[in-house]
Amino acid sequence: MATNLLATATNSWRTQSWALRIMRLWLGCTWIYAGWDKATDGGFLTRGSATFIGTQLSGYSTHSPLGQGLFNKLMEHSIQVGASVMVSEFAIGLATLLWVAPTLAAFGGFSISLGLWLVSSFHVSPYFLASDTVYAVLWLSYLLLIRNKRKGFSMSLERRGAMRLGIIGALSVAFAGVGKFFTPKATQDSAAGATATKIVKLASLKVGGSTNFLLADGSPAILFRTKTGVFAYSAICTHQGCTVAYVPAKKILKCPCHGTEYDPLKSAKPIVGPATKPLGTVKVAISGAWVILA
Ligand code: FES
Repeated sequence: MATNLLATATNSWRTQSWALRIMRLWLGCTWIYAGWDKATDGGFLTRGSATFIGTQLSGYSTHSPLGQGLFNKLMEHSIQVGASVMVSEFAIGLATLLWVAPTLAAFGGFSISLGLWLVSSFHVSPYFLASDTVYAVLWLSYLLLIRNKRKGFSMSLERRGAMRLGIIGALSVAFAGVGKFFTPKATQDSAAGATATKIVKLASLKVGGSTNFLLADGSPAILFRTKTGVFAYSAICTHQGCTVAYVPAKKILKCPCHGTEYDPLKSAKPIVGPATKPLGTVKVAISGAWVILA
């Protein structure tokens, strides 16, 4: 089976035009690298890390045209979402290079690029600075080119094709697992990326008021002002990573996913579960006319 797979791959490279080879090589290698980048990021699947997929989704939710409800669902299952994207990237890259189910792999690459554009880079202006759009167009062009070559657009799998896909799947999971051994220690503090930055003018935040802002890593946070000063918390729920919102009428921070309520006046400790840990503290200070990240 492995010999057949390599023979098919070698033959496909030999018979293709240089234009197609270049596209295929670039897309395949880049997709494997994208998976490897996640597999070797110790924080990607670690709750509370600055690079945790749930934290990234929280940051994206403030810019994406997709509804907050969808993001809350994605954030509820952020580890599964992150792991699926990582393994899919490995699988699409390997399948593209080895010419296993190439139309299915190209369609997968196109779909993921389109999804990433809607989720993470939709707001980028001008649009050509967002690489997701470029990859979506590249995958679509590649898909149409190989469809013409293959004289059909069938994604049906014969038995041998299914076995080859199985090999690709197993290799992808193995690569994702091996990545752990090349991982630097994960950053555990979600506010670690914050640098001294102006958040809001003190005059525009009245005593008793609050305002949302983003940390340097794009994750959401909430700033409060009381008679005694200012303080802020990460807005990422410590249960499963959804974004909490302040409810002024009840003076609580509430998570829309499973209903955890935090008391901002008591170090953001949960007063109603299921979360058991307080929200992360973000250090802020008053500097002249501004509230800044300390
Ligand atoms: S994510 Fe479950 S309560 Fe917030």
